[in-house]
Amino acid sequence: MAVMHGRKILLGVSGGIAAYKTAQLIRLLRAAGAEVRVVMTRAAEQFITPMTLQALSGQPVRQSLFDPAHEAAMGHIELARWADLILVAPASADCMARIAAGMADDLLTTICLASEVPIALAPAMNQGMWRNSATEHNVRTLARRGIRLWGPAEGDQACGETGPGRMLEPEQLLHLVGECFSAGAAGGLTVLLTAGPTREPIDPVRFISNRSSGKMGFALAAAFAAQGAEVTLVSGPVVLPTPPGVRRIDVETALEMEAAVMAEVERCDIFVGCAAVADYRPAQAVGQKIKKTAQTRDIGLVRNPDILATVAARPRPPFTVGFAAETERPVEYAQEKRKVKGVDMIAANLVAASQGGFERDENALTVLWEGGRKELPMTDKPHLAQLLVTQVLINYAERHSAEDT
Ligand code: C5P
Repeated sequence: MAVMHGRKILLGVSGGIAAYKTAQLIRLLRAAGAEVRVVMTRAAEQFITPMTLQALSGQPVRQSLFDPAHEAAMGHIELARWADLILVAPASADCMARIAAGMADDLLTTICLASEVPIALAPAMNQGMWRNSATEHNVRTLARRGIRLWGPAEGDQACGETGPGRMLEPEQLLHLVGECFSAGAAGGLTVLLTAGPTREPIDPVRFISNRSSGKMGFALAAAFAAQGAEVTLVSGPVVLPTPPGVRRIDVETALEMEAAVMAEVERCDIFVGCAAVADYRPAQAVGQKIKKTAQTRDIGLVRNPDILATVAARPRPPFTVGFAAETERPVEYAQEKRKVKGVDMIAANLVAASQGGFERDENALTVLWEGGRKELPMTDKPHLAQLLVTQVLINYAERHSAEDT
């Protein structure tokens, strides 16, 4: 498997009878050209010896967070950064619960928490444990966070029961690892996004801005990058970390945002205008702090450029996606906005206090395009972003196949 050559896989092994299959998985991964380093939990040692996994991986097996010899050679943070992929196989119910809770009480969970690379779990447990609502809840939490769940399969279990909870076979896991390293659905595409608010200076200490947190735009950038796109994010002032694999350009004002977008737009396939760009800016930004001498004061405002409409009006525009945050009749206003601005797709949402939207962690969207619409239900923004990216990629592909015929 050429895609596996030189890939660095950190294989976590937690306590379950399926751990004996991990030995075969290591052989397959190495035969496919990958480098494997193994981290075992305490419980895993009850099922397979570190010596076996060390011999098969050709590397010392790591077991403890507090092992001075190993920490000196490659500390746990270095180990987290070393990997291209973390695969936990088998992932026991307990191990999944600890990762879902964000715990860092042993080496494996600490690495999972510290790492920014994709994480995949191959669950293996008794069918009753898998079906328990506590595990179901953990699975949903993990999936929302972008952690991949490979399996489990159904069938006979070591405990004598039958049902879902068997770890996938090593060959199946090898195949999934290979897919992970192949290009995602957005592989080869270049995506440019705007996010966050803009700040329009009144004087050196005051500005006009809005309530946008940037969360939706950042979640979209992360979701496009996770699908293999080359992503550039032009961001207004926000307090959010840059998603892994995303190139970020920080700006303050609408004019700076426009300049940054125009410098990048030529080479992008998809443009997403997610920023809440201030519609107006003070006509003059005063050079010195304004004194409160007058009882009233007027601030003259001028219109800012509409970045999204400008991009959509280019001679050979990218596929354009806009947002419409409305306090009433969102679908009607959004459809109108889509036509006026000439964009391919628009995502409408209500920004009434009870409805998600600005500053909130959850949102729901109605996505509209020429001749179609899709409702995306109320969910957290990272999950919503994945749903929206999937729809954008479908419509982008349809437009391209229509242009090709
Ligand atoms: O007209 P309205 O501000 O409601 O339009 C919202 C959409 O247009 C969003 O996608 C936003 O990012 C984009 N926009 C822009 N430049 C502006 C105003 C809005 O790109 N000056």
